[in-house]
Amino acid sequence: MHNDIKEILFTKQEIDLMVHRIASQINEEFEGEELIAVVILKGSMMFAADLVRCLTVNVKLDFLQASSYGSGTQSSGVINIKKDIDSDISGKNVLLIEDIIDSGNTLSLLKKEMQSRGAKTVKIASLLSKPDRRVVNVEVEYIGTEIPDEFVVGYGLDMDEKYRQMDYIGILKPEVYM
Ligand code: IMP
Ligand code: MG
Repeated sequence: MHNDIKEILFTKQEIDLMVHRIASQINEEFEGEELIAVVILKGSMMFAADLVRCLTVNVKLDFLQASSYGSGTQSSGVINIKKDIDSDISGKNVLLIEDIIDSGNTLSLLKKEMQSRGAKTVKIASLLSKPDRRVVNVEVEYIGTEIPDEFVVGYGLDMDEKYRQMDYIGILKPEVYM
């Protein structure tokens, strides 16, 4: 597994710092309020698990899985909700938790969907962002860091379901997916 990694981008410690910084921002902004944290499966499970444990505001957890027909390292741009949340979010503060924003298609669709269900606020926390790849403009309130246009894995991020278990984030060797 580790042999497939070209370069370590962020160590466990560096990820931890980003997560704590995002949590402080959210704790400050939502002090005294309640949040419904919507974990976007499967990629953001590690980030979400670490993030919510740093939150001091009251959080309810829910889960959603979106699928974007396609495999390998390219998404098709056609997104649908494969597994929906159970919660009634009308009048609630929703925090969408995502691993990485790439084209922006997924988060743009999900944000609109949550708004159309009557959420009071819909904010987004994404650990990583690839600004060079953006096709749809989406406002992301909380970002861990921006990264260049390279395919990364680890800390929940996968390539064909592999590498999610790594506790660091690394750039995959191109020959692994070519
Ligand atoms: P978007 O809809 O194009 O913004 O795609 C976001 C989704 O694509 C993320 O939730 C990831 O599942 C996946 N993705 C995009 N870039 C990467 C990457 O570098 N590594 C692993 N997954 C990625
Ligand atoms: Mg994902």
